[in-house]
Amino acid sequence: MTSNINLKINGARYAFSVRDDETLLELLRTRVGLTGVKKACDAIGECGACTVLVGGRAIYSCLYPALRADGAEIVTIEGLAVDGGLNPIQESFLKLGAIQCGFCTPGMILSTQALLEENPEASVQDIHDALSGNLCRCTGYEKIIEAIMMAKQTYAKPVSRRG
Ligand code: FES
Ligand code: FES
Repeated sequence: MTSNINLKINGARYAFSVRDDETLLELLRTRVGLTGVKKACDAIGECGACTVLVGGRAIYSCLYPALRADGAEIVTIEGLAVDGGLNPIQESFLKLGAIQCGFCTPGMILSTQALLEENPEASVQDIHDALSGNLCRCTGYEKIIEAIMMAKQTYAKPVSRRG
């Protein structure tokens, strides 16, 4: 069975007819072409590589039915840029070398975005808690935490509150 849904994805409006069992991950990657949304753990909710923001909240898109997102505003890594440039979290990840293979990076950055939107003063412990569902096999996490602490300083006003 299929149902019609409307979504706002990275600022653009879309209408889809979706299957009941279609995940948001599948829709974003195969129907919208947003391949920054990664699938790393066979879509069983173990790695966080598929993280996107739905209504500002970080979720695993591999476990999230597309149908449930009807009417929601979705942000993927492709939608985080500010005026065509990197946002402060992306910049600090690059500056501090918090990226190796990069497979976990979109999910890490989106979970961080959700955290800093909610709590711009997040502590190291808050960051660990917020990223507990995002696995990285390469960096050892230290650089990632450092990058987020750096982004926090230049992030007095998170992206969605600017302007
Ligand atoms: S692909 Fe691993 S949690 Fe979604
Ligand atoms: S940089 Fe490779 S999994 Fe995180």
